[in-house]
Amino acid sequence: MAIREIRFNGDEILRKKSREVDEVNDRIRELLQDMIDTMHEYNGVGLAGPQVGILKRVIVIDLYDGNEPLQLVNPKIIKAKGKQEVEEGCLSFPNQFAKMIRPKEVTVEALNQEGKKVKIVAKDLLAQALSHEIEHLDGILFVDNMVPGTLEYIEPEAEE
Ligand code: NI
Repeated sequence: MAIREIRFNGDEILRKKSREVDEVNDRIRELLQDMIDTMHEYNGVGLAGPQVGILKRVIVIDLYDGNEPLQLVNPKIIKAKGKQEVEEGCLSFPNQFAKMIRPKEVTVEALNQEGKKVKIVAKDLLAQALSHEIEHLDGILFVDNMVPGTLEYIEPEAEE
């Protein structure tokens, strides 16, 4: 288990395009596991390679709904359907949230952590999270497409 350093808004690596992964090997699996640990440490719902300084097309998502975290390599949205208005944040923008319009449903093709092809049809929050994380791989940040003027800073609650 290793917590990696999160890159924050203003770090130019967040604007770069990530490279496809050629082979899902132990190094990639270790990276994915570290990303899960890092996401959990900061109570995030998702994390993409560039956010830990690695320009590879890898993402992890955990909706804390009892399912295992998703670990996806070279994910690609092949279909998007409908619209939903959502409130969105990002671990690279601590305590900041904005309104967005996201697809209601997406179909994603990717490789899993074993290198097997998977196809995911996702709705609602999972569709939102997949859209958000996959955009990170092309240097796109949620503030690029937010409803203008809706970015808010929300003071974190003090921990006891
Ligand atoms: Ni993000």
